Amino acid sequence: MSLGLTTAGESHGPALVAIVTGLPAGLEIDRAAVDDDLRRRQQGYGRSPRQKLETDTVDVLSGLRHGRTLGTPLTLVVWNKDHANWPWGMSPWPPEGEPSGKGVKKVTLPRPGHADLAGILKYGHDDVRNALERASARHTAAHVAAGAVAKALLARIGVRVEARAVEIGGETTDAGMKAITDEARKAKDTLGGVVEVVATGAPPGLGSYAERSDRLDGRLAATLMAIQAVKGVEVGDGFDLARRRGIEAHDEIEPGLRRRTNRAGGLEAGMTNGEPVVLRAAMKPLPTLMKPLDSVDLATGEAAQALVERSDVQAVEALAVIVEAAVAWELARAAREKFGGDAIDDLVAAHAAYIERIAPLWQPPA
Ligand SMILES: Cc1cc2nc3c(=O)[nH]c(=O)nc-3n(C[C@H](O)[C@H](O)[C@H](O)COP(=O)(O)O)c2cc1C
Repeated sequence: MSLGLTTAGESHGPALVAIVTGLPAGLEIDRAAVDDDLRRRQQGYGRSPRQKLETDTVDVLSGLRHGRTLGTPLTLVVWNKDHANWPWGMSPWPPEGEPSGKGVKKVTLPRPGHADLAGILKYGHDDVRNALERASARHTAAHVAAGAVAKALLARIGVRVEARAVEIGGETTDAGMKAITDEARKAKDTLGGVVEVVATGAPPGLGSYAERSDRLDGRLAATLMAIQAVKGVEVGDGFDLARRRGIEAHDEIEPGLRRRTNRAGGLEAGMTNGEPVVLRAAMKPLPTLMKPLDSVDLATGEAAQALVERSDVQAVEALAVIVEAAVAWELARAAREKFGGDAIDDLVAAHAAYIERIAPLWQPPA
């Protein structure tokens, strides 16, 4: 028994969709909690004006009745209100009438650092928009909606996931992050940063060492690395461990099976070890620049400047919400694999039985 997720939708198309399979029946989903995560994803200091243009909310097309899952595929929809401004440009069907609105002109100026160049070569497009519409981070709204469902499942077994921006443009204080964002905006430049995520309440033994693809550290790293603009992932003390001696690298075990430190970030041999799960994700500066980099016009083959389009200066706080959703999703998947059950109460009971079985050796932190 595992969770499955398929997402669909273009940035300026009609909607973003997430189909979640493998959920137990009877899980209560709080619509306001999903909407709250969608709203949080749109916030942050360096975001583009689009975020003010629309407030994402979730609709459900299947799998839910009176706020509880049915144990059938759950279809979540986030409508793109901005689609109304792209009636011709993003019409799913051959558009009728005179071209009007946004997206009418073909994009032929690939941005270094984006999907544009490889995307059109790979798929044989003649308009970069056909690649960037899906490559854009807009579709993380669907992942955040699915992540909110994962959080609801995790909450039933006492697991909580929270992420925050710990560094923006090299700055680590709120005032510093804000100032450097203003500075970058003025310079028509962009910034990256670092997000830290902490999951508490996971019991020891989610994930497995049995096969590489089972290892939860690998699964978490892969899911974070696959988020747009993420270029590095650390588990626990990560790269710093490479510079230490063994005596200072591991987490000594005390009676009660608690650890004195958490350098491993709660993950050993691809399994949770009962300590908080801690990861960090590094985000590169966003590739759409108001002062564009050199590129080539694909229509002429001549040197040109890259596409300039409405864009964020930095989106590290938004990344935190996306990272939170991704980690919640992967932990919920691992919990589903370990505890099974057709009804959520079965899963909760299996979790309780497991905690009871290991209780002579391991007790959850107070
Ligand atoms: C929350 C979030 C917002 C983003 N906003 C923008 C943006 O406004 N402009 C932009 O060029 N890239 C933005 N990106 C990054 C691009 O989507 C990403 O760099 C691009 O798809 C290429 O993928 P890669 O960086 O993973 O190689 C954003 C990424 C995230 C996670």
